[in-house]
Amino acid sequence: MIYYFSGTGNSRAAAKSIGERLGEQIGLISQINPNEEVFRGEMLGFIFPVYAWGVPPLVLNFISHFSQEFIDVIKDKSIPVWVVMTCGDEVALAPEMIQRTCDIKGIKIKSIWSVIMPNDYVLLPGFDVDSREVEKEKLDKAPARISEIVTGLCEGKEGVFVVRGSMAWIKTKLVYPLFKRWGVFPKKWHHTDACVGCGICVKNCPLKNIRLSDSGFPLWGENCCSCVACYHSCPRHAVEYGKATKGKGQYMYPEIRKGSVK
Ligand SMILES: Cc1cc2nc3c(=O)[nH]c(=O)nc-3n(C[C@H](O)[C@H](O)[C@H](O)COP(=O)(O)O)c2cc1C
Ligand code: SF4
Ligand code: SF4
Repeated sequence: MIYYFSGTGNSRAAAKSIGERLGEQIGLISQINPNEEVFRGEMLGFIFPVYAWGVPPLVLNFISHFSQEFIDVIKDKSIPVWVVMTCGDEVALAPEMIQRTCDIKGIKIKSIWSVIMPNDYVLLPGFDVDSREVEKEKLDKAPARISEIVTGLCEGKEGVFVVRGSMAWIKTKLVYPLFKRWGVFPKKWHHTDACVGCGICVKNCPLKNIRLSDSGFPLWGENCCSCVACYHSCPRHAVEYGKATKGKGQYMYPEIRKGSVK
């Protein structure tokens, strides 16, 4: 079984590809109650994007809520557990972060991998999507990396195979806690006059945090994990986060074309 989370489709594409090749089912973390999960399959995999050089809090929370019965099956059957993180560039100490959560649950991770994919982070000044050239280069290289990971998983490789980047400690230990506390202010999400009320942002929010109001325009709630799917999926480029996203680009994994629904 592979549990994944994805905002703009990179991790979903990785999960689909790896799941198909390993013959494992995939399930979207935000739609599953971990406490009620019954383990299926030959492997336990987690695939998600790196957030602020760490693991998205909702992924850690998901793992923390597996039942003891679920954990016992993993241990009794010696199910191999692995992690694949997609990232724009680097993961810093995100592997140690997920390892710590798994340790507390008594889950031993066999291998951790990273895949570089196009960047989708746009919520702070100075951060924008990749240029079209860089985006294409990353998308061209990703399938080979995914094949390498699948081979490694089939061979039962053990270890951490990631791009950490420089100053990993500072990034994960100092920036991630700030991101957890101040990473997103849901009230900043709004639509501009270009919005036509098509509802695509509503359908693309993995947390179902957006609804169309009586006047037919989107309204954001408080339950936002900053996955930026609403911003990137709008076919009218009408979603903004305060003033931070003004004039910035959009990105969705090509299969989930701009304007379509995941
Ligand atoms: C809130 C947020 C924080 C991010 N932080 C990082 C980061 O620390 N390092 C990095 O390389 N990419 C970072 N990114 C980029 C994503 O990890 C990357 O684009 C990922 O592949 C997106 O996956 P998805 O399309 O499945 O949502 C961040 C993206 C978001 C939305
Ligand atoms: S996707 Fe864009 S145009 Fe459609 S409802 Fe949302 S903000 Fe409006
Ligand atoms: S409101 Fe937007 S950024 Fe927040 S969880 Fe939904 S799609 Fe992601």
